Amino acid sequence: MKRITVAITGASGAIYALRTVRALLMHRVAVDVVISEFGWMLLRDEAGFEGKQRDFGGFIQELYGVSVDNMALHPLKDLAATLASGSAQSDGMVVVPCSMKTLASIAHGLSRNLIERAADVALKERRTLIIVPRETPMNLIQLRNMVAVAEAGAAVVPAMPAFYQKPETFDDLADFVVGRILSLLRIEHDLYPAWEG
Ligand SMILES: Cc1cc2nc3c(=O)[nH]c(=O)nc-3n(C[C@H](O)[C@H](O)[C@H](O)COP(=O)(O)O)c2cc1C
Repeated sequence: MKRITVAITGASGAIYALRTVRALLMHRVAVDVVISEFGWMLLRDEAGFEGKQRDFGGFIQELYGVSVDNMALHPLKDLAATLASGSAQSDGMVVVPCSMKTLASIAHGLSRNLIERAADVALKERRTLIIVPRETPMNLIQLRNMVAVAEAGAAVVPAMPAFYQKPETFDDLADFVVGRILSLLRIEHDLYPAWEG
């Protein structure tokens, strides 16, 4: 069974995170979730997550009707979690959506919380690290931070949906980006029809 870490930070686009977790669970992938403080806020403001108990598993189950047996939620501050060590099994990590702040931290190897540390570990272990930045417009520092993580081995997948597949819902739009993420993780999917020329 593949094991993927999904980090959710405080950039707009909580739907990308939720649809990513849904798609991974539906493909029988074990998912380790870490959510930043602003990530929780955006889940509340954009997705209606009533976060007092922080029962993220219950929320996903209710929203999509998928089993969350293979999902684990890790506290942001738990730098002793398995995700913080290169010796633990992991088949990759996705930061979705990725704020410019967390992008900057990853680009500069700060490792101050479990998201930043797990990304640092993914890079040093040469594992797939997918960064899904969301900001517009972008300044030169932000662009340079994207170059830095790409040079270090990460895949930069901007939250930038396409329209040629004729999306009808927000979920369709988000699933275009989620499909690109799954493709990079080498997970076959049918989240959007393949372009046939
Ligand atoms: C409603 C709201 C929307 C935001 N959207 C973005 C965004 O799209 N991109 C971004 O880089 N930061 C955005 N921010 C700012 C980040 O949340 C802020 O920089 C925060 O410190 C990020 O912390 P984190 O990376 O630990 O989640 C937003 C903040 C709020 C309150």
